[in-house]
Amino acid sequence: MEIIIKDDYQQMSRTAAEIVVEVLNTRPNAVFGMATGSTPLGLYQELVRLHKQEQLDFSRVTTFNLDEYVGLPVNHPQSYHYFMHEHFFKHVNIPAQNINIPSGTTSNYRAFCEWYEQRITECGGIDLQILGIGSDGHIAFNEPASSLSSRTRLKTLSKQTIDDNARFFDRREEVPVYAITMGVGTILDARKLILLASSKKKAKAIAQAVEGPVTSIVTASALQLHPDATVLVDQEAAGQLAMRDYYEFIYAAKPGAPRT
Ligand code: GLP
Repeated sequence: MEIIIKDDYQQMSRTAAEIVVEVLNTRPNAVFGMATGSTPLGLYQELVRLHKQEQLDFSRVTTFNLDEYVGLPVNHPQSYHYFMHEHFFKHVNIPAQNINIPSGTTSNYRAFCEWYEQRITECGGIDLQILGIGSDGHIAFNEPASSLSSRTRLKTLSKQTIDDNARFFDRREEVPVYAITMGVGTILDARKLILLASSKKKAKAIAQAVEGPVTSIVTASALQLHPDATVLVDQEAAGQLAMRDYYEFIYAAKPGAPRT
């Protein structure tokens, strides 16, 4: 696992955009796994800027979003469909038919989840999966005790996640209790992972994910099992990492490292 600690949110977002651009440059038809939440907003803004000002081309890209609330129609301001459209898709040139987001309103969740997994496989798998982290250490909506080999499925949100996400809704009771989410196993199948986290609120979850045991109680800790995972954080989110100096030393020495 590579740990990159940047001074602030903006620098973290810019570095994440550089990683996306690198993948896109080597593979113009890359398949990206997309994340929602406030954390990747800076990354999306930077990608939109690169598209508008530097003609970064997304015309051959395919995307798969991690998750969606159950019961929210696509035009609900808190649905992840709406979020992705507003903050990213409507500003770039990804063909609509290449955009995949789990359905929160299907009449058959089980069949939909199977189809979603199949569709990822048909598209050749995910080249780069972008991730955030919940304050309880979850990735996507893989709440504590989710199997580390889980696939796309329906999940019940934890009390803590409902509390965390209540800030986006008028009332706590409006936060959906269920979501459809890629599984930890689905996420681990991506060829490359980047997990972004900023602010003090994420410091404990980051320390557990990076330095704690691999456990289904902190599903982000499953990244330790992945051969190409990068954890990209700002200073505050790095605040509880015991080996922080070591990670900074490695990152600083990287430009001079022998190239294979
Ligand atoms: C939700 C999403 C996650 C996201 C998390 C953190 O639970 N399902 O994918 O990582 O929120 O969101 P934020 O970045 O707003 O803290």
